[in-house]
Amino acid sequence: MKKQLLFVDDESKILDGLRRMLRPMRDEWDMSFAGGGKEALELMEKDHFDVIISDMRMPGMDGAELLEKVREGHPDVVRIVLSGHSEMEAVVKTLGSVHQYLSKPCEATKLKEVISRALLLRNILANGQLMKTITKMTSMPSLPQLYVDLNKELKCTEVNMNRVSKIVENDVGMTAKILQLVNSSFFGFPTRITNPGQAVRLLGIDTIKTMVLSVHIFTEFDKESGDFQFQPVWQHSMEVAAMAKKIAASEKASTQIIESAFIAGMLHDCGKMILASNLPKQYNKILKAQETKHIPIQEAEKSVLGSTHADVGAYLLGLWGMSDSVLESVAYHHNPSDAPTLSFQPLTCVHAANYFSNELMHKEKGIDNTVNLDLDYLVSLGLSDHLEDWRNICMETISEGVKA
Ligand SMILES: [Fe+2]
Ligand SMILES: [Fe+2]
Repeated sequence: MKKQLLFVDDESKILDGLRRMLRPMRDEWDMSFAGGGKEALELMEKDHFDVIISDMRMPGMDGAELLEKVREGHPDVVRIVLSGHSEMEAVVKTLGSVHQYLSKPCEATKLKEVISRALLLRNILANGQLMKTITKMTSMPSLPQLYVDLNKELKCTEVNMNRVSKIVENDVGMTAKILQLVNSSFFGFPTRITNPGQAVRLLGIDTIKTMVLSVHIFTEFDKESGDFQFQPVWQHSMEVAAMAKKIAASEKASTQIIESAFIAGMLHDCGKMILASNLPKQYNKILKAQETKHIPIQEAEKSVLGSTHADVGAYLLGLWGMSDSVLESVAYHHNPSDAPTLSFQPLTCVHAANYFSNELMHKEKGIDNTVNLDLDYLVSLGLSDHLEDWRNICMETISEGVKA
């Protein structure tokens, strides 16, 4: 079936340019064009669209207002901004309602790549209702203590940049959101930023203040929302990040792989946080099924929702424009053999670190580990004899401890 795209811009010349530029895609995409927000919303009432690509500054309803209305009324539609030189503040204000930013003029290849990737991601989630819930999301929940610390720090008369960076790089949700903004083409940095501390420094305190204190882009995990325990998953995520980074370093990988292994480790289970905070009742059911049947959590998730936390995490991070290597690590962290590429990469490190973190934690509690190691995958990479070294690296990391 052809995918439905909607382009919105008040300048007819721009719409004509897009029409011409994307002509070669007309066998795959059905493209509609609207001259403003009102017209776009009317079209959306009549037809279903997969992706909306809107200008920001338009008379009457601007892009920010339009995309927030789309988020509310048509939550499963992917929301992309294609805009000229908007001010930073305007961009930050839309950070909740926008999945990705593209800057004008945008080359045809870049535009096609971003749209095709967003469309491909939609195949990950089989359940339409789940896709609506996740596509509508504005941020990922934060560890309550870090959320409070960040707000406190930013309200100080003299904000300490190092303390802000430390808080952000310790939180899964804050890291994901800050990387989304800093890597958007609005900033146009020549290389992808994978270090959350560096991202904070590049954005600057004023932007972070706007994000946190006026746009309220971060949210605190609601402790009352069900049986899900946020703290242990946070602890495990930080542990896997540190372990994956050390495994990559022990294999003398490139700095890029080492940094991506850290970020991917940190984000690998973000789907659990997303599901537990958005669908607490269903997640309680999943946790019960896991416990009573003693099955891996992803099996319980699949039977209740049709998708796993790995799928959900990869889908949202993909919409936010995270790199392919982080996406693959998140999507295939339980089953790396199914990944499209077979080579030593961040996924390899995250898979092993996730296994060892679980093995060591279960051993401590005296229960069986339900997480499996994909030995065939490690054998095909010729790495099975590295496992003992990796286990030692992981044990060392645990004894060093991870603190918020
Ligand atoms: Fe997992
Ligand atoms: Fe995990």
